[in-house]
Amino acid sequence: MIYLDNAATSFPKPESVYQAMDHFARHSLANPGRSGHRMALASERILDDTRHLLNTLFQGESPDRWVFTLNCTDALNMAIKGLVNSGDHVITSDLEHNSVSRPLRALEKLGQIRLTRVESHDGYLNPEEVVAAITPETRLVVLTHAANVLGTVQPIEPIAHAVRAAGGFMLLDAAQSAGVIDINLSRLPIDMLAFPGHKALYGPTGTGALYVGPRVSLRPWREGGTGGDSSTETQPDTMPYKLEGGTPNVLGLAGLKAGLEWVLQRGVEASRIHEVQLLQTVVDWVSDHSDLWGIAGAWDPARHVGALSLRPPQGLAPSELGAILDTSFAIAIRPGLHCAPYIHKRLGSFPDGLLRISPGPFNTESDIDTFLSALSDITDSLI
Ligand SMILES: Cc1ncc(COP(=O)(O)O)c(C=O)c1O
Repeated sequence: MIYLDNAATSFPKPESVYQAMDHFARHSLANPGRSGHRMALASERILDDTRHLLNTLFQGESPDRWVFTLNCTDALNMAIKGLVNSGDHVITSDLEHNSVSRPLRALEKLGQIRLTRVESHDGYLNPEEVVAAITPETRLVVLTHAANVLGTVQPIEPIAHAVRAAGGFMLLDAAQSAGVIDINLSRLPIDMLAFPGHKALYGPTGTGALYVGPRVSLRPWREGGTGGDSSTETQPDTMPYKLEGGTPNVLGLAGLKAGLEWVLQRGVEASRIHEVQLLQTVVDWVSDHSDLWGIAGAWDPARHVGALSLRPPQGLAPSELGAILDTSFAIAIRPGLHCAPYIHKRLGSFPDGLLRISPGPFNTESDIDTFLSALSDITDSLI
């Protein structure tokens, strides 16, 4: 299989991730912290080490500000629902994944928040338009760092400074940027950073994290055992346990730890540069076949991650193309709306969507050549 669906989840993982999970599962898979024996302590150490690695990678305030979650959706819901109060104004954009758009729209429909959705232009937000939407009631600004449909990297810095100056909170959805773009929380005024562990941090599915900065106090939506202090009647206020009730996915986190070590050793941006180079070949091919194919959004390699959506020829549905690529060519891509309906409406590709390809660090030019010749074969036979 040629796997070009890394924006959904990365595959394969670095070999060290498989080895770490196998070793951990066979020797130390106990419930962290709770029992105090040596296996429980080894398990707890995985959590501590992973929090330290996250703090090193993103330069947060301290390791205990990192809360482990199931995925990025879980982290975003924890942040949004734990912060927003009735009557608040919230700003978001038309580039967002449903894991941002749906909780916000649900709160809006309940009459609990006023929501402003800023429009993008060719895949990019204009920071001045976002800043102009800020009002004294704006409590939260939630934006994606890199758009999952288009791969475009957003101009976050001026927006984050303006939100901080206005007294609001900034939540960054780093699902497509964590691990491939340098995010330095000691310099960037981001209050909360949400991301999955299973994309460009190369952990397994079932992992994710939320950074909760020192200005923020979130209401926990899940209360229960923390493994440490069992004496209090309600959830302890100490971070990260306040937000981490229940047994964590420590096996997955053993894999995420190895993935983080791999990223730190390889260097953030290395995968982005490799993936954007592979996509450049696709962009060049599309411009040679522009009578049939197109790309969605602007192409600026310096402000792009490794995801790109193609507009297929008239009459060829993305879902049909995806099925042919899978069954006849053993190539995995993602057709459709990519859980981001607002941007497809804006691009005119709703409801059929587009054809997204997202190479990873282990893909080669030869994978891309095979993909492009498959597209040529399909269009030759069907058009
Ligand atoms: C921009 C963005 N936000 C959020 C998510 C949700 O991530 P998860 O599937 O880990 O919940 C995704 C997943 O593709 C995404 O691309």
